[in-house]
Amino acid sequence: MAFKVKNIFQWSIIGLVIVLMLLSLLGSVAVRAAIPAKIANELYLPVILERMIDYIVLGWNDLGMHCYDRDYSTLTVLPPYNNLYAQVIKRGDPPQLITAGIKVTYSFPDNTYSVGKTNFWDYAAKIFGGSLSPNIGLAGKGLAGEMDLVADHFVAQGVPVTEFSDSSPTTPQYFQLAQMIVTDLATENGLSQTNIVAPISSEMRCDVCHNSPSPTNFRMNILQKHDEEEGTPLVNQALSGNPVLCANCHADPALGMAGTPGLPSLSAAMHGKHAEETSNCYACHPGPLTKCLRDVMSTQFGLTCVSCHLGGMVMLSSRTRTPWVDLPRCGNCHDTAHEENAGKLYKQSTGHGGLYCEACHNSTHAITPSREARDNIQAMVFQGSAGPIGNCTVCHLTTPATGGPHQ
Ligand code: HEC
Ligand code: HEC
Ligand code: HEC
Ligand code: HEC
Ligand code: HEC
Ligand code: HEC
Ligand code: HEC
Repeated sequence: MAFKVKNIFQWSIIGLVIVLMLLSLLGSVAVRAAIPAKIANELYLPVILERMIDYIVLGWNDLGMHCYDRDYSTLTVLPPYNNLYAQVIKRGDPPQLITAGIKVTYSFPDNTYSVGKTNFWDYAAKIFGGSLSPNIGLAGKGLAGEMDLVADHFVAQGVPVTEFSDSSPTTPQYFQLAQMIVTDLATENGLSQTNIVAPISSEMRCDVCHNSPSPTNFRMNILQKHDEEEGTPLVNQALSGNPVLCANCHADPALGMAGTPGLPSLSAAMHGKHAEETSNCYACHPGPLTKCLRDVMSTQFGLTCVSCHLGGMVMLSSRTRTPWVDLPRCGNCHDTAHEENAGKLYKQSTGHGGLYCEACHNSTHAITPSREARDNIQAMVFQGSAGPIGNCTVCHLTTPATGGPHQ
């Protein structure tokens, strides 16, 4: 073949644009077959794809699944709070991570509001203090907006998205699609865009066990059990109109709350108390319907929660481990060429070219190729196959003779 790699890449992008245009204009069955139907249906039509030749944006969500309570009238374990990340690469020989002269915006084309899908905003001020505008999350971000530049990447912290799309607000879709667009500040031209999953679920099935004897309202049932065991006044607090925030007493690093000294962390308390009741992680973590674990290791190699979270409920009950920090590491099982940076979590680590591990692999529990087609869209669009982004010419104009993501 006489094509240079660069040309093949350009042709594949141009081909994709044409396919997408045809898809939208004609809805042709024949053309639709060119892109796996499942993924074609998930794509929001790019406004600016032709410019992707010069720039690439890689986006991701930092957790494999975020869970939240949905009904905040009685108690709160966790608020709606997804974190979106992006890095922008100027293609070249060598490619360059860029941050200057651009902005990155995010939105959820089919999920533009959360008020009414959860009652969070009716209680947020009472639970967390301060005042919070409707549809704005605890860190000031809404369901669309501009991401903040932090060192070598862009972040939207605490996006209060729910699992209920605008188009079907009563049917959960746990893998919500965010769209990210990079714009040149000087020319206002779009430079690149991507679609990534913000995983979100309120499927914590406390209700399965906490429904008898009375009260059958599972949240009140939980508070009553707690009062009976610990002599706390939580039922009265909730009845007086002040929902209970567990992290006020039990330390929760996820919320940055230190809790009451001497009490177990929320994680240690919850896993410890329930260790004799169940060892099924999906009893509380989302869940039998959500199935938040969808990564390549679970789908192709049979790994389960406790393959990585060794020791399960008992390990998690330890009052000496630090929850949200003492977590499994890729390096526990993979070699040193494929491990996290020293002292950093997977989500905080960077590898080849200063790119975050998650930029190429997606988040924990969603390591590509993922069971969910939506998780694979970014890799499909940029390199034509699911799985870690490893095609050199996604970022390099020509294939380097040596090196590579883990060389
Ligand atoms: C598999 C069943 C099961 C599930 C699921 C479950 N619980 Fe429990 N929980 C229990 C049992 C049984 C008790 C103990 C009741 C007793 O001692 O009378 C309990 C006790 C509690 C207590 C009282 C702890 C104490 O000793 O002060 C709290 C608080 C609690 N659960 C919260 C929750 C929350 C929150 C969830 C969901 C995230 C949940 N539970 C899910 C079975 C379950
Ligand atoms: C006002 C403070 C306070 C609040 C609020 C609170 N707890 Fe507790 N909790 C305690 C105390 C005190 C204990 C007893 C701790 C001990 O045994 O060392 C306890 C114990 C527990 C235990 C049992 C731990 C064990 O190992 O037996 C669980 C589970 C628990 N809390 C869950 C929750 C949940 C879930 C919430 C929110 C719905 C919550 N707590 C809110 C004070 C609180
Ligand atoms: C009875 C309910 C329940 C069950 C069962 C449960 N968890 Fe959890 N887990 C929770 C809650 C509630 C939190 C959130 C605590 C917080 O916000 O800090 C949590 C947090 C976590 C965390 C993050 C915090 C940390 O300690 O690092 C991990 C990891 C975790 N669970 C793993 C597991 C695994 C693995 C299993 C199955 C072996 C499991 N959990 C079973 C309720 C449960
Ligand atoms: C292939 C290994 C692996 C499997 C399987 C796995 N986890 Fe994890 N889990 C991890 C790693 C690694 C982290 C830490 C992520 C980081 O460092 O950023 C983590 C973190 C977590 C956290 C903290 C929040 C987060 O996303 O960082 C929770 C909660 C959790 N796991 C629960 C589970 C549950 C429940 C299952 C089964 C349904 C499960 N995990 C299966 C490797 C795994
Ligand atoms: C409990 C051990 C364990 C942990 C922890 C773990 N892995 Fe794996 N991983 C495996 C096993 C086993 C396989 C199967 C193939 C093999 O043996 O390499 C695998 C396969 C993979 C593959 C697919 C390779 C292929 O051949 O397709 C990728 C990608 C991967 N892991 C990434 C990660 C990342 C990223 C992390 C950390 C977030 C991680 N793994 C944590 C055990 C683990
Ligand atoms: C530029 C993209 C890129 C970045 C950044 C990246 N990886 Fe990878 N990773 C890949 C590709 C491509 C593969 C598959 C080919 C290979 O194994 O080298 C892979 C494979 C892996 C595997 C599976 C190895 C096996 O046994 O098959 C693990 C584990 C892994 N990476 C962990 C990490 C960790 C941890 C980081 C961050 C410190 C990271 N990766 C950063 C692209 C990347
Ligand atoms: C997702 C984007 C991405 C992918 C895919 C990628 N690289 Fe890179 N690579 C970079 C970035 C960014 C740099 C940093 C350039 C710099 O500033 O030094 C880099 C640097 C390099 C360098 C050192 C600088 C240079 O160009 O001499 C080599 C060699 C390299 N990559 C080889 C490869 C090879 C071989 C592959 C495919 C197997 C590959 N890369 C895949 C983004 C990528």
